[in-house]
Amino acid sequence: MARGGVTVKKECLVLLLIGLLSTGYAQKHFITVLMENYSPASLQLYFTTFDEAASVIVSVSDPQFNQRVFVERMSTSTLTLDSKYMITGNQLSSKAVIVTSDVDISVFAFNVAANTVDSSPVLSIDELGTEYFVFTASPGPSESQFAVASAVGHTTFVNVSVSGSITYNGKFYTSGDTFSVSLEPQQAIQFQGSSDLTGTRVITSAPVAVFSGHKCFKGPSTTCDILFEQLYPVESWGRTFTVFPLANHTGDIIDIMAAETGTIVKANETEYVLLQGGHVQLTLQKSCVVTASKPVMISYSFQDRQGFYRYDPFLLSVPPNPLRREYYKFVTDAFYQNYIMIVSDASSVSEFYLNHKPLDQYMFTTKEMNGFKGLEVWLGKVGGQHEIYHTYSPFLVYVYGLETDVSYGYSLGQETKYEEEKNSPVLNCFPHGAEFHLPLSLVSEANLNVSDIHLEDPMCKGTLEGKFVVINIPINRCGSYILSEGEKTVYSNTVYGTVAESGVHRIEVPLKCEMAANESLEWSFHPQITDVVSQGHYNVSLKLYKTAAFADPITTFPYEVDLHGWLYVEFEVQADEDESLQILVESCKASSSLQDQEKNYNVIQQG
Ligand SMILES: *[C@@H]1O[C@H](CO)[C@@H](O)[C@H](O)[C@H]1NC(C)=O
Ligand SMILES: *[C@@H]1O[C@H](CO)[C@@H](O)[C@H](O)[C@H]1NC(C)=O
Ligand SMILES: *[C@@H]1O[C@H](CO)[C@@H](O)[C@H](O)[C@H]1NC(C)=O
Ligand SMILES: *[C@@H]1O[C@H](CO)[C@@H](O)[C@H](O)[C@H]1NC(C)=O
Ligand SMILES: *[C@@H]1O[C@H](CO)[C@@H](O)[C@H](O)[C@H]1NC(C)=O
Ligand SMILES: *[C@@H]1O[C@H](CO)[C@@H](O)[C@H](O)[C@H]1NC(C)=O
Repeated sequence: MARGGVTVKKECLVLLLIGLLSTGYAQKHFITVLMENYSPASLQLYFTTFDEAASVIVSVSDPQFNQRVFVERMSTSTLTLDSKYMITGNQLSSKAVIVTSDVDISVFAFNVAANTVDSSPVLSIDELGTEYFVFTASPGPSESQFAVASAVGHTTFVNVSVSGSITYNGKFYTSGDTFSVSLEPQQAIQFQGSSDLTGTRVITSAPVAVFSGHKCFKGPSTTCDILFEQLYPVESWGRTFTVFPLANHTGDIIDIMAAETGTIVKANETEYVLLQGGHVQLTLQKSCVVTASKPVMISYSFQDRQGFYRYDPFLLSVPPNPLRREYYKFVTDAFYQNYIMIVSDASSVSEFYLNHKPLDQYMFTTKEMNGFKGLEVWLGKVGGQHEIYHTYSPFLVYVYGLETDVSYGYSLGQETKYEEEKNSPVLNCFPHGAEFHLPLSLVSEANLNVSDIHLEDPMCKGTLEGKFVVINIPINRCGSYILSEGEKTVYSNTVYGTVAESGVHRIEVPLKCEMAANESLEWSFHPQITDVVSQGHYNVSLKLYKTAAFADPITTFPYEVDLHGWLYVEFEVQADEDESLQILVESCKASSSLQDQEKNYNVIQQG
């Protein structure tokens, strides 16, 4: 952060040595299970940290398991539970795997057996719900399955409304039947179907984790594979999706499931009307847009392709729009050829950074559909944690690893906890004028175009930047007028959204800014290779150098400096309107996080 102004005081908070802040989706409490695999399987858990080291406790109540794992900051550790913890058949067990961390982490689960594997992100307890619909991948034989795990410290009642057929406790239930079970804390129950269980509805008295898949899925040219994915509750389903085929496949299947009767789904120029728990399956020959009148869940089955490839099938969920996050951490396994598919509506892909390097330093292919890009990036046989971010535009990401006969995949970007924070207008006042950010959603809701947004002077219009209409408000033009002058100058203008050629204002936002001779401004520098921040009428740049000669800029991030070591910082402000601008960097601090104002190091104090 930097503050500055006309004659000027400045304070800057230089951000070093961090990943991009804590993003809200990492959490401390998780629950998962080891579902039945066709041969004895193990559950491989990955714990990924952000800017704090974590102490993680993993426990199962019976058979008892209790282990603590320490994870360094910005790294990943793994822990494996063996097949003793696998739930078999239609079993009520105490095998729920509880993960508790002292700081926010992300958790990934891999179900691994000889010749087959699948993976899923593990949802945090906060993201769980009380209503789910099961998707078990295929009209296959008897090995489709799902599991429900208790997530609270008291008895949870579970009602299962069957689609397909299940034999439980000696009773046979078929489509339309409902039965109830109760789960005590740390218990998990698994159900296997004598037919496809897709469409089965699970309603519970308290939040639960639900996992779904297939014990022995028969792909077009494979014989028996585990499919495993944690399901999202109905409350985090969505209504619009852009689906790109992974790995150039043309025969993968997407399944679209409705939670409410009368849901109208449009896909591939065809309209389907679905009942509650009803679903439609499409072969994903190419990229596809799906829209629905009510929330739906889309599951993606990566199938083997006839021909040269013998990839193992896997299951993942398709996150809906709107895209929410600009930053992800994920893990890969070095055994596989690993890929990610980024789905983004950003105009510029040069603003993506993967493992701190611009995306163009990687091999990737691009598909386009309806203003969205699907970027498939090849990572190669690398394991461990990765991070990807875009400097301003949210996106989602699929992660998958392919090898002959074994493959895994999962997706990220559906977390409900990461709510959109950027939907309110923002006014920034600067010494030379102001800048107003109007969310595009408000413009669309008013049924207006970007070009309909203007100031008192209709010639001063807004421009579209990402999801905002941005309009610059100069102090002495565009209809701005001075309300009072003195120590502080107050000036005013109004932003209008006007129906074209009618003079009718649908949006009217009066704006007022105070301008002081000494103005404080704030800038934040995100730790990355680009180091110029443009704000209003200033460009502020911050460059780091290794030596006092200021000749060898630091170009990689993160860059670590030992305590008492030297770091040379060049701070520059450009402003085009005022030649007399003077800058004083009053204070400058380095901090390990934007949010954490406590732990910072003074670089410059009192000028
Ligand atoms: C389960 O079904 C029973 C019987 O219909 C009902 O009384 C109960 O409220 C249901 N429980 C939940 C969690 O929906
Ligand atoms: C998809 O096709 C492109 C272009 O032919 C190729 O470069 C890429 O490696 C393929 N992706 C996979 C996963 O095989
Ligand atoms: C989409 O429609 C085309 C032409 O009607 C058809 O050939 C293709 O299989 C359909 N794709 C899906 C995903 O259903
Ligand atoms: C936006 O502008 C385009 C082209 O000028 C026009 O066709 C369209 O009707 C406008 N939309 C609205 C909502 O006013
Ligand atoms: C602006 O602040 C500086 C430093 O605090 C001070 O010396 C100067 O007199 C101030 N100028 C005005 C116009 O207030
Ligand atoms: C800031 O940088 C941009 C892009 O390089 C440039 O177009 C703009 O004129 C600069 N603004 C100022 C105030 O120097």
